This record gives sequence, C-alpha cells and structure tokens, in this order.
Amino acid sequence: MGRLQDKVALITGGARGIGAETAVLFAAQGATVVIADVLDDVGETTASTNDRISYRHLDVRSEDDWHGVVTAVVKEHGRLDVLVNNAGVDLTKKLSATTLADFEWLISINQIGTFLGMQAVSAASVAAETPCSIVNISSVAGLEGVQNHAAYSATKFAVTGLTKAAAKEWGRYGIRVNSVHPGIIDSPMTEEQFVDPDLRARVERNLPLRRLGQPIDIANMVAFLASDEASYCTGQAFTVDGGVHA
Ligand SMILES: NC(=O)c1ccc[n+]([C@@H]2O[C@H](COP(=O)([O-])OP(=O)(O)OC[C@H]3O[C@@H](n4cnc5c(N)ncnc54)[C@H](O)[C@@H]3O)[C@@H](O)[C@H]2O)c1
Repeated sequence: MGRLQDKVALITGGARGIGAETAVLFAAQGATVVIADVLDDVGETTASTNDRISYRHLDVRSEDDWHGVVTAVVKEHGRLDVLVNNAGVDLTKKLSATTLADFEWLISINQIGTFLGMQAVSAASVAAETPCSIVNISSVAGLEGVQNHAAYSATKFAVTGLTKAAAKEWGRYGIRVNSVHPGIIDSPMTEEQFVDPDLRARVERNLPLRRLGQPIDIANMVAFLASDEASYCTGQAFTVDGGVHA
C-alpha cells in the first residue's frame, strides 16, 4: 500500500518539470492522478507513460476551465482529495524594466491561477464533505526578495499569504493548505540559465548541499503534505532549497 493509496489528485502545470515528477511519484504511491496544463502534446505524452495518470487541458487563468476540470475529475473518479497548484511562470527582469503587461501576466498565472484553483477545489470538497489537501508551489522568492525577480517574488509572496489565510478559514472543514518553497531546481524553467556548465558549477559551489535541487526533491515534500502523514500540518511554508535559507 502506497501512502497516497486511493487518493485522487489534480496537479496543475503537470506536463513537465516539477509537476510531472510529482505526478509520477504520486502514481507510484498509489494515487490516481490528473495532470492539467496548457502544453497539451507534452501533457498527453507525460500521461501516456503511466496508467494511473491522465491529462486534461486547463489554463489556470480561466475560471471556466477550473469549473470544467474539477467537475469532470469528480464525475470520473468520484472524489478529489489533493490539489497541487504548481503551474507557474518566471521572469528575470529588473523592477525598473518590468512593464505593467509583464506584471499582469505573472499575477494572472502565479497568483490568480492559484486563487481560482483553491476556490474551485475547496468548494467541491465542502460540498462533498470530503476534506482535501491543497499544496501551493510558491518559491524561496515567496519568502524573501530575489534580485531581478521583483514581480515574480510579489506573486509568490501572494501565494504564501493566500495559503496561510485559507488554512485558517477552511480548517473547520478539514481542508489543509500548505505552501512549498523550492530553491533553484533543475527543470525546464531554469535550464536556459545553466547552459553554461561553468556558471552551473559556480552556482552549485555556493549552495550548502553543493548541488541544484532536482524535481524529485520537491515532489517528495509535496507527497508528504498530500498524505495523511501530514494530517496536523496546515498553513505552513515548507522550504526545500538545499540549505540556502537556513
Ligand atoms: N525551477 C525552479 O527553480 C523553481 C524554483 C522555485 C519555484 N518554482 C515553481 O515551481 C513550479 C513548477 O516549475 P518548474 O520548475 O517545473 O517549471 P516548468 O516551466 O517546467 O513547469 C511549469 C508548468 O506550468 C505550466 N503552465 C504555465 N502557464 C500555465 C497556465 N496558464 N495554465 C496551466 N499551466 C501553465 C507550463 O506549461 C509548465 O508545464 C512553478 O510554480 C515555479 O514557479 C520553480
């Protein structure tokens, strides 16, 4: 029996990177997993590797998409126990160069996308009287300012705040809400920054654990928070960053 046996989980941004790794780990631990993304071909390919994983199109900015996907998952699988709000985008830009359009784009996906997901899934959970676990993927940039990432930081701080307020509001329904704060993770989001192996080696030398994080490092934390082993954890920020912010 895996620790996520019989749980039904929805993971946004699950086509690739941290979300895809989390889906594969959840499936290995016994969950039925629906990954949702805007990268349909990549998402279908990820799902095709595992009988326990299926794919659905979901643009996290769309309230209609959320309604459709949550309704479909509950109809098909009978329940929805876990939401991982993982879809996100990054922008490396000085604050002085960040345009309003840049800022609104980050807010719409990282912040509003998370907000809409929390609302849709918590409403289904309360209606079905089935408590759920919501795990929001923030960042270390959601706990402290990161240079050249001001707009990204702002949206990830918002995710930290939403998490804490929601945990207090929905605890009475047994709904747990936590955030995970990755450091630098080796995923498609960061690969362009590390095409130069010398730069990557320099960065790794400055990390206490002397390596970039891997998607599985984040997936392991998310799986714990999704599981009943974390049944007394809510409203908390869990950092997985190799010791940078110790
Ligand atoms: N990689 C890192 O170093 C790092 C560090 C801290 C936090 N994070 C966070 O981890 C999460 C996953 O990032 P990743 O590193 O796997 O990056 P990634 O770019 O590989 O994955 C992000 C996924 O989100 C999807 N997505 C983007 N916009 C979407 C939308 N509107 N609707 C639905 N899906 C959408 C993308 O298509 C992609 O599949 C993000 O929230 C990111 O901010 C990553």
